[in-house]
Amino acid sequence: MKVITVNASKTYDIITGTGLLDEAGAAVKKICGGQTAAVVTDDNVAELYADRLRGTLSSNGYRAPLFVLQNGEVSKNAENYLSLIDFLAEEKLSRTDVVIALGGGVPGDIAGFAAASYMRGVRFVQIPTTLLAAVDSSVGGKTAVNLSAGKNLLGAFYQPDLVLCDTSLLSTLTEDVFRDGCAEVIKYGMIADRALFESLETPIHLQLESVIARCVEIKRDIVAEDEFETGNRKLLNFGHTVGHAIELLSDYRISHGHAVAAGMAIVTRAAVRMGLCAPGCLTALLVMLRRYELPENSDFSADKLASACLSDKKRDGQSITMVIPEEIGKCVLKKIPVSELEALIRSGLEEW
Ligand SMILES: NC(=O)c1ccc[n+]([C@@H]2O[C@H](COP(=O)([O-])OP(=O)(O)OC[C@H]3O[C@@H](n4cnc5c(N)ncnc54)[C@H](O)[C@@H]3O)[C@@H](O)[C@H]2O)c1
Repeated sequence: MKVITVNASKTYDIITGTGLLDEAGAAVKKICGGQTAAVVTDDNVAELYADRLRGTLSSNGYRAPLFVLQNGEVSKNAENYLSLIDFLAEEKLSRTDVVIALGGGVPGDIAGFAAASYMRGVRFVQIPTTLLAAVDSSVGGKTAVNLSAGKNLLGAFYQPDLVLCDTSLLSTLTEDVFRDGCAEVIKYGMIADRALFESLETPIHLQLESVIARCVEIKRDIVAEDEFETGNRKLLNFGHTVGHAIELLSDYRISHGHAVAAGMAIVTRAAVRMGLCAPGCLTALLVMLRRYELPENSDFSADKLASACLSDKKRDGQSITMVIPEEIGKCVLKKIPVSELEALIRSGLEEW
């Protein structure tokens, strides 16, 4: 078991290990108290793990009503957010009660935003069940739902009170969903840690706990320095501006992790062509993406991608901040005039 403490506007622990799900009731009681713990999940995860979670919650004195989303990114919308808020009100959740997200980034993001906004904020616990949620979305307090204009346009920064990452829950993931998380792990290597990147030559599933812990440490350090993303936290968006555009243009048929993988490759090819990044860095990234069977390009045209990028909230007036790799383990933020974005993406789409 490993405990990593995040010091942000809230101080909280991220506990990683096995067997944590069945002990969750006691851990939640100790940190959050309250009488009702509303569990928010999706249909796949509910079938696998909801009974076990509700069992340990009720053994620890909680009433544990269950809110189940249909699985998939399309559920991360404003209608479901409002239905969840209505559900919390109908269940008479009070300000001293708890919302628990059990699942991947979709239940995590929507439950987090409900916890942030219902009665101006109630206690919130994340129990990630995908690799992506374990290394990224359950940590750091970004919560949101998508609007038709773009991803994550309605949301809040709201740190959880506790994150319980039971790595044994990841054993039921499909290979495709596991690979989504691998893309975010590769991202951490690219932005902050060459040794982590190089260690990924050993398959991630063979070193799961140490890889998750290292990614969480990197995110903890970035969030502690810049919780509200006014500066270096933007580095975590490497590959995401183009990735979000790919997700949006595909009507979310291309998953987040796969879109981010393609986004990282596109931006890195562009960076090499701009003379900002050594070709060896691009080669290493492409080899790693292939190792994890992740995409390294997109079929969408540069003009479509650029206009979808501009609906992303990362736009800032007439410029957009892009995360540009310089070498493995080091990325920098660069403001690009909106007028140059399409050309940048076009050069990134062209094979090297
Ligand atoms: N808040 C943040 O900081 C942050 C960071 C990165 C990504 N995100 C968001 O996270 C979302 C993507 O997260 P995701 O990839 O976890 O998606 P997801 O929650 O949709 O999960 C992917 C699929 O895996 C299934 N699943 C989940 N756990 C399972 C398990 N243990 N066994 C079997 N199946 C399981 C789900 O039912 C779903 O079909 C996106 O909306 C993205 O924007 C948020």
